[in-house]
Amino acid sequence: MRIKVLTIFPEMLRPMLETSILKRAIDAGLIEVELIDIRPFSELKHKNTDDYPFGGGPGMVMLAQPIVDAVESATGEGFHGKRLYLSPRGRTFSQKMAEELSKDEELLLLCGHYEGVDQRAIDLVIDEEVSIGDYVLTGGELGALVIIDAVARLIPGVLGSDESSEDESFSSGLLEYPQYTRPREYRGLAVPDILLSGDHAKIARWRRDRALELTYERRPELLEHIDMDKKDRVFMKALKEKREES
Ligand code: ADE
Repeated sequence: MRIKVLTIFPEMLRPMLETSILKRAIDAGLIEVELIDIRPFSELKHKNTDDYPFGGGPGMVMLAQPIVDAVESATGEGFHGKRLYLSPRGRTFSQKMAEELSKDEELLLLCGHYEGVDQRAIDLVIDEEVSIGDYVLTGGELGALVIIDAVARLIPGVLGSDESSEDESFSSGLLEYPQYTRPREYRGLAVPDILLSGDHAKIARWRRDRALELTYERRPELLEHIDMDKKDRVFMKALKEKREES
């Protein structure tokens, strides 16, 4: 997958792309991330990329011209992907969106700054605005990294077989069950016996029950979208009864 990121601060993204799994994926050619600096596209003498908002108000607004030219230059020779603008006004990013984007060949991410970007740039060259959560960041770069990270790990080969993306929180629709590693006892706290039993069916059931329990306690709304089998329903019924008693 080829990802193009348009930003006035490409140096903000580099350290993440040069570390750990993202670095490995880029080195292996599984993803390609091109950081495109918007500033050189400015037609102004001092390469300015922002100006005061019409109508007054605080902050600066990013100019349409450098953004539109940068996006058109990046998508010139046939671009087959989504052009997303990172913004707190956008649709909230989710695992489902990451899964959809991971199937595309290309992706363009536009990072804004200041009080936003001139609406005409959004109207002309952006397909959708995307937010990474209900809080306001200083710019879209962290959002772009969040999307790159969540999408990259779904691309076949990016995670090793022992780093599977199938079992954890959200891909199953449930929060992840608790994990333990050595030692068997730490500060008086023992690893649950069942995990040492070697009985894979029992371990799978225990993990499923813990995932259901955690999701019920912390994010009950997620359970509405879960396919439950008979064993799940029996467990949930007992759990709810136990909670109602206490
Ligand atoms: N830029 C500023 N805040 C943001 C947010 N919450 N998500 C995406 N981009 C942003």
